[in-house]
Amino acid sequence: MKNELQFSDRTLKLSRYPYRSNDSLQAWDAGDEYIIRYTEEEMSLLPDQKILILNDHFGALSCWFSQHHQVTTMSDSFLSHQGIRRNLEENDCPSVRLLTTMDSLPQHIDFVLLKLPKINRHLIWQLIQIRQNLSPDCQVIAVNKAREIHTSTLRLFEKYLGHTTTSLAWKKHRLIFSAPDVSTHHPDQTQELTWPVEGESIHLINLPNVYSGEKLDLGARFFLTHLPQDPKFKHIIDLGCGNGVLAVKARQLNPQAAITCIDESFMAVESARQNLQHHFSDCENIRCIANNCLDEFKGNSADLVLCNPPFHQQTAITDHIAWQMFCDAKHVLNKGGQLLVIGNRHLGYDGKLTRIFGKTSVKTVAANKKFVILQATKG
Ligand SMILES: C[S@@+](CC[C@H](N)C(=O)[O-])C[C@H]1O[C@@H](n2cnc3c(N)ncnc32)[C@H](O)[C@@H]1O
Repeated sequence: MKNELQFSDRTLKLSRYPYRSNDSLQAWDAGDEYIIRYTEEEMSLLPDQKILILNDHFGALSCWFSQHHQVTTMSDSFLSHQGIRRNLEENDCPSVRLLTTMDSLPQHIDFVLLKLPKINRHLIWQLIQIRQNLSPDCQVIAVNKAREIHTSTLRLFEKYLGHTTTSLAWKKHRLIFSAPDVSTHHPDQTQELTWPVEGESIHLINLPNVYSGEKLDLGARFFLTHLPQDPKFKHIIDLGCGNGVLAVKARQLNPQAAITCIDESFMAVESARQNLQHHFSDCENIRCIANNCLDEFKGNSADLVLCNPPFHQQTAITDHIAWQMFCDAKHVLNKGGQLLVIGNRHLGYDGKLTRIFGKTSVKTVAANKKFVILQATKG
């Protein structure tokens, strides 16, 4: 797998986070290369210009532009933050101001580079942020796979920023050029969606980039009806918590238990935190943390881990995160503690769990046409 991004006379050595020696996935894509190529060949950016980079995956753009410019990078992903830090260090790059989506955007930005996020609500949120914070002469260049830039995407740029055009396609990617028209009034938009969970006394707040933020995930719906209740549970972990729906229900069933919610999306962690605060007056033993799976968690410290694993990292389909989540869960569970996992039948999580926990320690708790809930007990 290629790990050197070369352009002109410069080479960056880039790896994904978490680093895996046998990784078949590259740490940058043709969209990054297109932006670098275009800005180097077609634009004359002045040294020290202030550049804002949104949604840099593993730091290709942050590393490239930090050499001559003052870079601020905002990303909702904890994994991206870690990857960007490592790659900046590896390439001896000048430092970059790294922001989460919970931080405010800086003002006086000269130029914005935006890798389009997967979720449209997240894009709209970012366009509104850009629009509210930038000066009239600031230029915005966005990039994505050409087949994922629809007329409706361009309409969002027109609506929230201003005049918008696109480039020709290069390596199946296209650039979007837009200039914020700060003179026109723009209505304030609510940034979060709230809705009740049918059949439960749960009402969820969802920030723009949270997984399944517009409606309950079908797997989560099935999982909710099979969560256990046991006065012996002292500590429950919701691993990959999204909006925290599983944690809220687990706490309703087990009010004595401390709850830890983990996600790699800062907006997910904040949504889970708000949802738990909204449902429980006593939140002293509730923690919501942005992390990579259960990295750095103490062993033998939890009685129940709930997990509806992701099968994407950025835009790549992968099962290595599920694998790490299951291994980490085994590490943090007390002896006799349980990991409960939900997945589509075809994902074959039973095979993974059997390899990690042993054949006799894994059983099926429930199944329907689409999903299976598995329980693995630490022996
Ligand atoms: C399928 S969603 C489940 C969300 C929620 N628990 C539910 O059931 O609706 C998986 C979640 O895992 C999170 N995730 C992905 N990679 C992660 C990682 N390396 N560490 C922690 N969380 C991660 C995603 O952001 C996403 O919120």
